[in-house]
Amino acid sequence: MTQPVFTAKGLTKTYVSGEVKVHALNDVDLEIAEREVVVLLGPSGSGKTTLLNIMGGLDRPTSGRLFFRDLDLTDLEDPELTKYRRDHVGFVFQFYNLVPSLTALEKVTEVARDPMRPADALALVGLEERMHHFPASYPAAGSSAWR
Ligand SMILES: Nc1ncnc2c1ncn2[C@@H]1O[C@H](COP(=O)(O)OP(=O)(O)O)[C@@H](O)[C@H]1O
Ligand SMILES: [Mg+2]
Repeated sequence: MTQPVFTAKGLTKTYVSGEVKVHALNDVDLEIAEREVVVLLGPSGSGKTTLLNIMGGLDRPTSGRLFFRDLDLTDLEDPELTKYRRDHVGFVFQFYNLVPSLTALEKVTEVARDPMRPADALALVGLEERMHHFPASYPAAGSSAWR
């Protein structure tokens, strides 16, 4: 069998706020293979975002190991995590990462090694007509403007 793209071993994340401890991830073992499409399903509060943040190099586990191929993400310092995100991670955030004062075009920043033009990237996902729109001018979800 080929090497998995992601391997998690005993991944644990405990948030501590004051006296309260929240065990968001409790001993998670996981392998994801090349070209495998994975759906992460669970009730609100079950730890989906926590796991994605850790796999995406935005956060660190409290304990356990997480490998991206041979790279031990749990060992990386911030600059190396940044490089990992730049080279390997694509995030589509739900809503709260939209910056109200930037248009769609202004938000598409070029961080990749050999970036395509931001306007081309927006066109690729059918947003060329909304390039100069601000988040507040997006249509409501389900509106015909998305079709
Ligand atoms: N930054 C945080 N500080 C404290 N608790 C958190 C934090 N982020 C998430 N949690 C808690 O961790 C648990 C898992 O949250 P989350 O990963 O957002 O779940 P999901 O995405 O499945 O809804 C929840 O109980 C949530 O309240
Ligand atoms: Mg979530």
